[in-house]
Amino acid sequence: MLVTAKELVEKAEAGNYAIGAFNAVNMESAQSIFAAAEEERAPFILQITATTLKYTNPEELVALVKALIERASVPVALHLDHGRDYATVLNFLRFGFTSVMIDGSLQTDGKTARTYEENIEVTRKATEAAHLLGVTVEGEIGRLGQIGVDITEEDSALTLPEEAEKFVKDTGVDLVAVGIGTHHGLFKGKPIIRHDRVKEIAERIKMPLVMHGGTGVADEDVRKAISLGIRKVNIDTEIRVAFIETMKKEIKKMDDAHQEADASEGIRKYDIRKILAPCREAAKEAIAAKMKLFGSSGKA
Ligand code: G3H
Ligand code: ZN
Repeated sequence: MLVTAKELVEKAEAGNYAIGAFNAVNMESAQSIFAAAEEERAPFILQITATTLKYTNPEELVALVKALIERASVPVALHLDHGRDYATVLNFLRFGFTSVMIDGSLQTDGKTARTYEENIEVTRKATEAAHLLGVTVEGEIGRLGQIGVDITEEDSALTLPEEAEKFVKDTGVDLVAVGIGTHHGLFKGKPIIRHDRVKEIAERIKMPLVMHGGTGVADEDVRKAISLGIRKVNIDTEIRVAFIETMKKEIKKMDDAHQEADASEGIRKYDIRKILAPCREAAKEAIAAKMKLFGSSGKA
């Protein structure tokens, strides 16, 4: 059942849990997310980044995801992750997405910071368009740490509570992605999650907050952040690791079988499904564990 992210996070707010937002890039990764949600009876957000739609034809991947949504017995929101400009947001609205992130904190190169005014301008414009269609909007204030760069107190990536408050007033977004000590991708050490910052921002703006870079954050830190006001937790790398580490094992197995076939002058067998099915299953297990951790299991 297709719903908006706002509907999901409002229930999460009332129930003091968080909604998992999981990135899909192809059929098997999308299927693993839906399978985990059905098994866990968990509402969830299926998210696709604009860059993924450079990897594959948008209509094809979106059509596949919509077919999965059709068959789903749990509520799901279809979300644009890290839209960097107005045109991208409009494009995803055209695809029928029920939630969009306008990531106004960075320029379209995904690296250079935008000024506060530039962020507001692009976020406000995208929010007006999305709200006309009843679509949820996630904005970002304070930059997520870059991959591999450890966040410290002085790091400008941490969100300032007073700036978050102004940002919400200036834009009208429904969800706020905040810099609280995470970054995308794997962490070199244990990330320091600034729970004091989460608490202060949540108390100031009384809005559902989004944790980006959810992979690698310790379970107790995730639980604490949720208790303080995080209502959407984004997970991408964890799915990639489960998928690709399994793929490595399955390809090794197939390689061994080929060696045996060669040695016995038998015939090598090749079957893509034999490699991808276990990958899909491993990703599903990883996602289901996150749904349990976020407290969204059983909430459908
Ligand atoms: O937007 C997607 C998430 O922030 C992904 O973060 O790859 O560290 O799980 P992650
Ligand atoms: Zn992110």
